[in-house]
Amino acid sequence: MNRKPIFAANWKMNKGASETEDFLKSFLSKLQGQDFPCEIVIAPPFVSLAKLAELLHTATAVQNAHAIQIAAQNCSQFDAGAYTGEVSVLMLREFFVHYVILGHSERRAIYGETDAFINAKIIKAREANLKPIFCIGETLAEREAGKLESVLRTQITDGLKNVPEKDMLETVVAYEPVWAIGTGVTATSQQAQDAHAFVRSVIADLYGADTASRIRIQYGGSVKPNNAAELMACPDIDGALIGGAALEPQSFLEIIRNGCDHGGQ
Ligand code: 13P
Repeated sequence: MNRKPIFAANWKMNKGASETEDFLKSFLSKLQGQDFPCEIVIAPPFVSLAKLAELLHTATAVQNAHAIQIAAQNCSQFDAGAYTGEVSVLMLREFFVHYVILGHSERRAIYGETDAFINAKIIKAREANLKPIFCIGETLAEREAGKLESVLRTQITDGLKNVPEKDMLETVVAYEPVWAIGTGVTATSQQAQDAHAFVRSVIADLYGADTASRIRIQYGGSVKPNNAAELMACPDIDGALIGGAALEPQSFLEIIRNGCDHGGQ
C-alpha cells in the first residue's frame, strides 16, 4: 500500500509569533527547490497559528514553497460558548488549520484527558473536516508489566468509538511511547515496528484490513536526524511526530530528508 509519509513538528509550548517567523523563513529557504515525497506539517501554539498561516500563504504565492500543512495542538469538543481558555474547531479553520493533534500523552498525563474525552474531540474535529493526529502510547511501567498491547488496544478502541470508516481514513495515528518522549531514549526500530504492526492489526479488527492498510501511523519519541532513516525504513512506520528536534529548521529538515530517503514506500 502506498502511504505518503507525514512528518509533523509538534512545537508544544514553544515559539510565539516572532520565533515562528524566524523558523519559517529559515526553513523555507533551506527547503527551496527541494521536493520531498512526503507531507510536512507544523503544529505551533495557538497564538502563532495566524502568523504561520500568513507566512505560508505569502510564501506559496511568491516562491512555490513545498506545501506545508498547519496543525493545531488541541481543540475543544464544543462549538462555542462559556468554555474559558478553549479554542473551537471553526476558529482553527479560519487559520487554514488542516490537522489537529489529539490525545497527546502530555495532555493525558498533565491535564487528565481520558479516552472518552479525546474521542469527543476527534468526532468534533471531523465535523469541521480537520484531520486528527491521534496519539497513543504506553508508559514504561505499562510496557514492563506486559501491558503494551492491552493499553494500546483500549486507547484505540475507546478513542475511536463511533468514528466511522470515512473519518478514520482521514485520521493519522501517532504511536508515541511515553518513555521515549523528550528523553533521548528512542524505541528501537524493532520495538517501534512491532508496536506499529500491532496498532495496524487493531485498526484492522475495527475497520477491516483494507482501511488499516491505508492509515498512516507515525512514530514519535526522540526522533532525530540520526535515527530517522532506520525508523522510517520499517514497513509500518509512515512518518514521524517530532518534538525537540523540530524546533530547529536544520534538524527538522534533516529528519525529513533522511526519513524520505529510506522511508516512503
Ligand atoms: P520529542 O521528539 O521531543 O521526544 O517529542 C515527541 C513528541 O512528543 C511529539 O509529539
